[in-house]
Amino acid sequence: METTVTSTRTTRPGGRARIPERTLRTDRWWVGPILTTLGLTTFLVYGAVRVFQQDHYWVQEHHYLTPFYSPCLAAQCVPDASLFGRVPWEFPPFFPYALLSLPILLLFRVTCYYYRKAYYRSIWQAPTACAVREPHRSYTGETRPLMLPQNGHRYFFYVAFAITVINTWDMLVPFLHGTEGGFGIGLGNLIMLVNVLMLWGYTLSCHSCRHIMGGRLRSFRRNPVRYWMWSRISTLNNRHMWFGWLSIASLMTTDAYIALVSSGTITDLRILN
Ligand code: FES
Repeated sequence: METTVTSTRTTRPGGRARIPERTLRTDRWWVGPILTTLGLTTFLVYGAVRVFQQDHYWVQEHHYLTPFYSPCLAAQCVPDASLFGRVPWEFPPFFPYALLSLPILLLFRVTCYYYRKAYYRSIWQAPTACAVREPHRSYTGETRPLMLPQNGHRYFFYVAFAITVINTWDMLVPFLHGTEGGFGIGLGNLIMLVNVLMLWGYTLSCHSCRHIMGGRLRSFRRNPVRYWMWSRISTLNNRHMWFGWLSIASLMTTDAYIALVSSGTITDLRILN
């Protein structure tokens, strides 16, 4: 195998650039990977605890349903919390009530182009960062069996889109359940509204969504509507990373608020009725 050596760096065809130094960087390049690891770990641990808790997911008075339990399918679900009905059997302990949506949403996030970059760098360390020596000797891309599901991202997008529609419905219904019945607004409504906006921002700014809208077109001029939508989605796409993090934050905030109200720890702050 031909090997090219340039002073202290080694490059092998098909391999990784090698540098004997631990890093050539002089800036604080490690701050980003550490924050990314902390953020993703926090979300995964928090989500797992809440999903397996099987409690405090629903506020009967105002019909708040946390997104971690939507759609609620288990026989144990509160009837009003199950918009699409329940299966006739009870789920075993520690089984997610939202059994259909959560695995898809997890796969949607895990295969997301931005998150891939984030955890490849910060957790997998392939590569850790530019001009930082990485621990892996070879690069196989996403061709190995374990990595093949990464290529199914566009299909997870379709289902995630439908689940975001369900989340939107979950957000609208509580506006019709004020304290004395009828229309009402509480802090919970506003938190759920912001969450749904962030979820739509994340879903619509997806690279697959952009490709579905504007890809494979021979002429934008002959498809003005798709071009217009592709342009808007491209603008959102520039902020996809931010929508990724903001939607994680809004999901946890929404769930935590509903859990606190549901458990009686706090009462919902009512703005109108
Ligand atoms: Fe991130 Fe599709 S690229 S959700």
